[in-house]
Order: sequence, then C-alpha cells, then structure tokens
Amino acid sequence: MTQETYGERDFARTDDLRVVHERLLSWYAANARDLPWRRTRDPYRILVSEVMLQQTQVERVIPAYEAFLSRFPTIEHLAAAPLAEVIAAWGGLGYNRRAVYLWRAARQIVEQHGGEFPRDRRQLEELPGVGRYTAGAVLCFAFGQPVAFWDTNIARVLTRIFLGPDHSPRRRDLDALAERVLPLDRAYEWNQALMELGARVCTSRSPRCEQCPVRAVCRSVGTVGMVRRRSERFAGSRRYYRGRIVAALRRLPAGVSLHALRELVGDPDSAGGELALEELVEGLARDGLVEVREEGGEYFVRLPGKPAD
Ligand code: ADE
Repeated sequence: MTQETYGERDFARTDDLRVVHERLLSWYAANARDLPWRRTRDPYRILVSEVMLQQTQVERVIPAYEAFLSRFPTIEHLAAAPLAEVIAAWGGLGYNRRAVYLWRAARQIVEQHGGEFPRDRRQLEELPGVGRYTAGAVLCFAFGQPVAFWDTNIARVLTRIFLGPDHSPRRRDLDALAERVLPLDRAYEWNQALMELGARVCTSRSPRCEQCPVRAVCRSVGTVGMVRRRSERFAGSRRYYRGRIVAALRRLPAGVSLHALRELVGDPDSAGGELALEELVEGLARDGLVEVREEGGEYFVRLPGKPAD
C-alpha cells in the first residue's frame, strides 16, 4: 500500500512490459471470446454494450443486447422511441436507470451533435450516464483511439501484474498505471485483453495463475495463497466493514453515494484507496444485500427494494 505514483522507474526500464504486451496480446488473439460487441466499431453499439455490461454479466447481456439492437438498430431509432418502450426493451437486465440514461444520451447526441458521436473525452463525459470508464471504452473500442481506462476488473489485473499483491492503488495511480502500460498501437486489443484475462483467468477470488499467459513476469503470481491467508487473517475486518455498511444503509433507506458512505463507515483502505470500499460494496451487491446504481458518473448504494427510484 504505497502512496507513490507508479512511474517510469517501475516498468519502463525492464523488459517485463514488452513481455506482458507480447504474451497477453497473443493469448487474446488465440483465446478471445467471440462477443457481439467485438464484431462492431459502431459507437452506438459499443455504448449500448458497455452500459449493459456495467452491472450485468456477459452471458446475460448477450441476448438482451441483440434484442435491444434489433428493436433500436441506430441511435436515431433509440432517440425517437418513447422512454417506456426503451425500458420495456431493456429486457429484465435490471438497474433500469441505465436505460433511461442511454435514451437521454441518444437524444442528446441526435439533438446536439446531429447524430454523430463526439470523439473527445470531455464531450462524451457530458452525456448522461457516461463516466470516465464508458467514455474511454467508446473512444478506444469504436474510434480506435489509444486511450487507457479501467473498471474494477482491469484495475485488479493491472495491479496484480505490475504492482503486486500488497498494493491498493488510488484512482489517480491507476489512471497513471493504465496509461503507462498501454501499447499505443494495440490499444483496442490490449484493453479487451485485460478484460478477457480478468473475466477468465485473473478472477477476483481464485485466479487461475497456472493458465495465465503472463505468469512468468506477474508480480503477484504464486502469492494467491498469501492473498488468501491475508484476507483470512483480516476476515474480521472485512465482515466488520460489511456490517457497518449495511447498518449505515438501514438508517438511510433512500440510499447514499459511495463517497458519503466512505464518510459514514470509515475508509477500509488505510492507504486511502477507493477500490477497497467499492469492492466491499460490489461483494454485498453480488450477495443481494445492497443495490448499486450509477447516476451522473457517481455510484449510489442502498438496501434492496427500498423506494428511492
Ligand atoms: N465488460 C465490459 N466491457 C467488456 C467488453 N468489451 N468485453 C467483455 N467484457 C466487458
């Protein structure tokens, strides 16, 4: 848990970065799943996929994505549709606010940009529901721009490979790390490959290091047992924070922003990192104990089934 920024000194002088690039990119070329949003460079289709994937697993997204795009094949179709139809076509994915934001974003692009997606980060981030991650994904996956971005999966993979098991980098350190290791000429494949590795090999709880293409240079390989022991040793504090989060939400049935939640329950990461609280909340959400929604790039948390929508 260092407070330093992760700069040149860490990797650029070593051959490790080149090795990671070569091995991860070849692994991706040979192993990538044939996912529908990897067959398109249409920014509208990329945006729909990324919004759906924000809180829903790939297997559930695929049929909903295809049905949604049959119903609204272009951004103009989506912008022209009544909101109720858009929500109906969301196909039971849940977190229906995502559908509302997507519809509003479509209208904004049609009304303010003549139906053409903006190609810069700032303008993309002005769209409803589009935060730093989603804007980066559109710029890279649709427009082929060499842009770095991360979600919790990419953050976990980058941290494990390049920093090691005892690091919980803060947001700006992750921004710097993601940028520093991005291969500028292979950004699309690199970012998809990081997601693929995170989904299939470098999973949160039980990484399959023996199958990992970068195990020879990964700073966390062989520490899985250590990571486990460490989390078992701290099992009390993990439970402690889960309990504190749920107790705080009981007092706040309308929900609370992640930022405010940190103020209420304290910061589980002594280094001030933001990932730890997010991961605790994600774990609670996976267990059905809390609900998370995104609004204007910020996350809000509440107990399930409370009437805040
Ligand atoms: N999760 C978010 N974006 C994704 C993508 N492009 N491929 C697979 N999983 C994802």
